Amino acid sequence: MKLLFLNGPNLNMLGIREPDIYGRRTYADLEAYIREFCAEKGVECGIFQSNHEGALVDAIQAAYGKFDGIVINPAAYTHTSVALLDAVKAVGIPTVEVHLSDVSKREDFRQVSHIRLACCKTIAGHGFEGYRMAAEHLLAL
Ligand code: DQA
Repeated sequence: MKLLFLNGPNLNMLGIREPDIYGRRTYADLEAYIREFCAEKGVECGIFQSNHEGALVDAIQAAYGKFDGIVINPAAYTHTSVALLDAVKAVGIPTVEVHLSDVSKREDFRQVSHIRLACCKTIAGHGFEGYRMAAEHLLAL
């Protein structure tokens, strides 16, 4: 089982950005957390972060035939990107949408998620734990 973890813009600023919302743990901490639970479960993982929408589209396309599942936190692109939605639809890889914060309790513009239409599950408001929950959902499929 190979899972790809994708993170969108500004998630590399974890630990610095809005700690009241996203916590004080860093992006390096998130990567270590993901690697640890994947190792425990015997899952191979790829992890990629980009601030660029096209780079995330490229990563989704490159996952075709290589990964069995995708866990994606598209960050702000959740609310704007039809290109990411189309990329997930194009590859047909089971994908779970994750958000650190509970977007349902935040601003109106965060209530829209384009990528959700192509995802088998959405997990929000569980911090780092959400990534593990997403992986477990994909493993159970
Ligand atoms: C986020 C929520 C998004 O609305 C926001 O733009 C982010 C992070 C989250 O993990 O809670 O950058 O995806």
